[in-house]
Amino acid sequence: MQQPVRMICLGAGSRGMDAYAPYALLCPDKLRFVAVADPVEEKRGAFAARYHVPKEFIFSDWRDALASGVEADAALVATQDNHHVEPAVTAMERGLDVLLEKPVAKTAAELARILDASERTGRSAVVCHVLRYTRFFNGIKAVIDGGEIGEVQAVSHCENIGFWHMAHSYVRGNWRREDETSPMILAKSCHDTDILLYLMGKDCRRVASFGSLKHFRAENAPEGSAARCLDCAVPDCPYNAARIYMIPGYTGWPINVVTSDFSPEGRMRALREGPYGRCVYRCDNDVVDHQSTILEFDGGASATMTVSAFTDFRHGRTIHVMGSHGEIRAKMSDETIEVTDFRTGSVRTTENPPIGGMADGHAGGDLALIDAFVRMEAGEENAVRSSIRESIQSHLICFAAEESRKNGVVVTL
Ligand SMILES: NC(=O)c1ccc[n+]([C@@H]2O[C@H](COP(=O)([O-])OP(=O)(O)OC[C@H]3O[C@@H](n4cnc5c(N)ncnc54)[C@H](O)[C@@H]3O)[C@@H](O)[C@H]2O)c1
Repeated sequence: MQQPVRMICLGAGSRGMDAYAPYALLCPDKLRFVAVADPVEEKRGAFAARYHVPKEFIFSDWRDALASGVEADAALVATQDNHHVEPAVTAMERGLDVLLEKPVAKTAAELARILDASERTGRSAVVCHVLRYTRFFNGIKAVIDGGEIGEVQAVSHCENIGFWHMAHSYVRGNWRREDETSPMILAKSCHDTDILLYLMGKDCRRVASFGSLKHFRAENAPEGSAARCLDCAVPDCPYNAARIYMIPGYTGWPINVVTSDFSPEGRMRALREGPYGRCVYRCDNDVVDHQSTILEFDGGASATMTVSAFTDFRHGRTIHVMGSHGEIRAKMSDETIEVTDFRTGSVRTTENPPIGGMADGHAGGDLALIDAFVRMEAGEENAVRSSIRESIQSHLICFAAEESRKNGVVVTL
């Protein structure tokens, strides 16, 4: 009988704790966590308790976990954006396959290090491009690959971040500053560049991009606003932290990033003292709040990709694929895929019952990815849907988009 895959969790934050690890509770015969590392005692303790990690394999740093000699097959690298390359390379050198959170790295040289480590050690680095594992995008891909809309000529793709999600992650939160984590297009849209590559099945050759931090700036602070939402006199601000985080009884994402004390007092304390209670017009953020990128693929098809704060999170991603003989209009939130055939004039709509909310595991992608990883470990060929080489291209497109946006040039890949 196949033994469970033995995995080390490096970084027991939001993703480490909640995205893939629950699979070990659902399928203990397939996945087991044998060690965990996180500098925050509360986090590593909570992970160890939930996933039954033995006391002697709880560490405060990823280096100690990888040096510990614990018997393992794989490592989950779920540390923050700036800390993916070293643990991933070290884990592969230790003979472990790696499930690697995106973004993989912030420079082409670092991407090359990961690729080199994978080729040198023969270990896999599987990037957490979870959209490739969703029923929604695979439904769209099946229509394209089946030839129903002819040859794809153009795509219009939108990542509707959602106004409060923007405020949470990219104005007040972890991804607000490029130097601390990543530019917005890398942090958020390497998923989108990756899914466009997946759907098109072609390489991207030229990139142009426009965007800026236009709204969440000090000069846009309304009359009567204050440094913290709890002291603010503006009645109808959509970004008011109390509106976002004081929902009684709700303890999931994103409030679980803000505090672990979900009582009204605990929430109020977090908003009064912590980063998530700050006025969105008075933060130290510098990443863009909207960005539109144009991609040209081999063969001449093009795609526009917009990532925007000024949207309703409930829509999720929306995509319009325009083919020579038909088109697809699709919305990720309710998994509706509408296909029009220009030859017959017929319109058919696929609607799937939702797998979960949009905040719930990327519409099933998180658990489907860990399932594929476990099957890869068990020897199933083609279980995972992208190689490290393909994942790298998605990142190179993001680097090119930033170069284009900042320097006003079209970048050839
Ligand atoms: N695939 C996706 O769809 C997706 C979605 C959200 C976030 N992410 C990415 O996942 C990564 C983690 O995001 P998150 O929201 O869980 O962040 P997080 O800040 O909640 O978690 C990171 C954890 O790493 C820990 N850490 C820091 N230094 C460490 C060290 N030396 N050794 C071990 N652990 C250490 C931190 O204490 C923290 O608990 C980020 O790179 C993020 O961009 C991916």
